[in-house]
Amino acid sequence: MNTILLIHGPNLNRLGTRDPQLYGTLTLDALQQQTRATAQALGYIIRAFQSNHEGALIDWLQENASTAAGIIMNPGALGHYSYALYDALLDTKLPCLEVHLSDIHARESWRAHSVIAPACIAQVSGKKEQGYQEAVKILAEHLKRVNESVVSS
Ligand code: DQA
Repeated sequence: MNTILLIHGPNLNRLGTRDPQLYGTLTLDALQQQTRATAQALGYIIRAFQSNHEGALIDWLQENASTAAGIIMNPGALGHYSYALYDALLDTKLPCLEVHLSDIHARESWRAHSVIAPACIAQVSGKKEQGYQEAVKILAEHLKRVNESVVSS
């Protein structure tokens, strides 16, 4: 399976217009295209989804996880409080990378905490669109290590 799920939560459909100093200038489409290209170079296909609704994100995760190798998720503000999203991620049993365009550790104190972090193998924060390219690489490396250990055991 060579599909990576790329998931964006609330308000990320506004990228390109929404505070460029924090979130960069790329639209969500452009960001997804860039991430697709990075993933493709590493042998992965991106299946992408954005929603402003917690339940829609969970439904989509449940429908798509069984045909994917891993997840890259920018949960938006849901990452700070959605235990339902945390549970849904855990339930996929897939390696997940949490990405934030802005540096959540350098803003309001409530943003520094991520409730989905324990369901993720790593968090990339504050690197704008570069963070997504880094996330793809971390996930691809992780999947390579896992596959190698399966083959050698
Ligand atoms: C964000 C950070 C969140 O705190 C915020 O609610 C967002 C975007 C980011 O990409 O920096 O919507 O996830």
